[in-house]
Amino acid sequence: MQGKRILLIVGGGIAAYKSLDLVRRLKERGASVRVILTSGGAEFVTPLSFSVLSEEKTFTDLFDLKDEAEIGHIRLSREADLVVVAPATADLLAKMAHGLADDLASTVLLATDKTVLVAPAMNVRMWQHAATQRNLGTLRADRIHVVGPDEGEMACGEYGPGRMTEPAAIVEAIGALLGAKAAAPRATPRLVSDSAKPLSGRHVLITSGPTQEPIDPVRYIANRSSGKQGHALAKAAAALGAEVTLVSGPVTLPDPQGVRVVKVDTAHEMLAAVEAALPADIAICAAAVADWRAADEAPHKLKKPRQVSEATLKLSLNPDILSTLAKKGPKRPRLVIGFAAETEDLIENATAKRARKGADWIVANDVWPGTGAMGGDQTQIHLITAQGVEDWPAMSKDEMAARLLARVADAFAAMRPAAE
Ligand code: CTP
Repeated sequence: MQGKRILLIVGGGIAAYKSLDLVRRLKERGASVRVILTSGGAEFVTPLSFSVLSEEKTFTDLFDLKDEAEIGHIRLSREADLVVVAPATADLLAKMAHGLADDLASTVLLATDKTVLVAPAMNVRMWQHAATQRNLGTLRADRIHVVGPDEGEMACGEYGPGRMTEPAAIVEAIGALLGAKAAAPRATPRLVSDSAKPLSGRHVLITSGPTQEPIDPVRYIANRSSGKQGHALAKAAAALGAEVTLVSGPVTLPDPQGVRVVKVDTAHEMLAAVEAALPADIAICAAAVADWRAADEAPHKLKKPRQVSEATLKLSLNPDILSTLAKKGPKRPRLVIGFAAETEDLIENATAKRARKGADWIVANDVWPGTGAMGGDQTQIHLITAQGVEDWPAMSKDEMAARLLARVADAFAAMRPAAE
């Protein structure tokens, strides 16, 4: 971080005091820090405290004409390598999402073409409110990076997600973003010309749809998956310039354009097709693979035994494609993403699934019949990563796919280059 210039915007909230520690840590690592304190932030921490720690003037008001003459908001942004908003209040996030610019902080945020990282902090209900989640969705689509919030006891006495993530974690996120820039320079990452094809040259492998496990020549075991989500992901990856292999179980959807489609029926065939498609940079397992297959597939149509009211079908466990892909080794895609379709204890089960299967991210969604997720066009997901759980608002499967792939492109850009 030596020599890097951070522009830190401190919003109003009790977490503002933690940003003092953030400045100290960044300075310790050799970064220079300039602070913009909003009027809300100044209610909690004085400009002087930040000036002492940062050894720079703290900027507080757009309409201070002297400052405008000395150093305008454009220069503040131009002279930074990264803009960090910590704490990012619900109000600041809303302003950013809607492009409002009525004070120095929001004006800089609207004017900057630098990478922006936000560390939200607010009351749990404000965090969970549909408006905040909608704004976050917009910001992510605008390629704004988000770290946290953490879950825990809040200053207001409530418990839940909303606490600003610890300064050490913010420093880590800053390091990753600055490192990424050093590894793969993107002069103006939010300009369309630079970011329109961020996955070009990458191979994205996606599984989609159900599998059908034959019992006999006319019967099979399957599930209600339509393949809409997996196919939407393939389309979104191709739109970002990736080379895409879509391994699909039986669906009634048309093949997405610009995508290599491999059609399979069973879990075994899906695994073989996936292994044949390797190497891949990114794997997304969206297929609803049947966990079980008939232990002995009958060569002829099974006849119903007479005078018997019960029968038993012997099943064998199918291979787990996601776990196989996520296994450590030279062939492991650098980013492996799985889905967790659950009807109960969604977050708990999905978090356990991420660890059990070795995936980097899990997209958790509630597939209780009433939600309409299975087979429908809408979805509401929770993204589970090493950093925690993000609750995304309800949206169409196409929109979710576009946003997830934008996140994938960001994460991939932030990774160190593979040792080749
Ligand atoms: N998956 C897979 N191969 C399997 C089963 C599942 O690749 N044989 C993948 C799915 O594509 C999905 C993830 O694993 O990305 C989780 O699938 P899910 O059906 O939710 O989990 P299960 O493995 O069936 O676990 P459980 O029975 O505990 O729900």
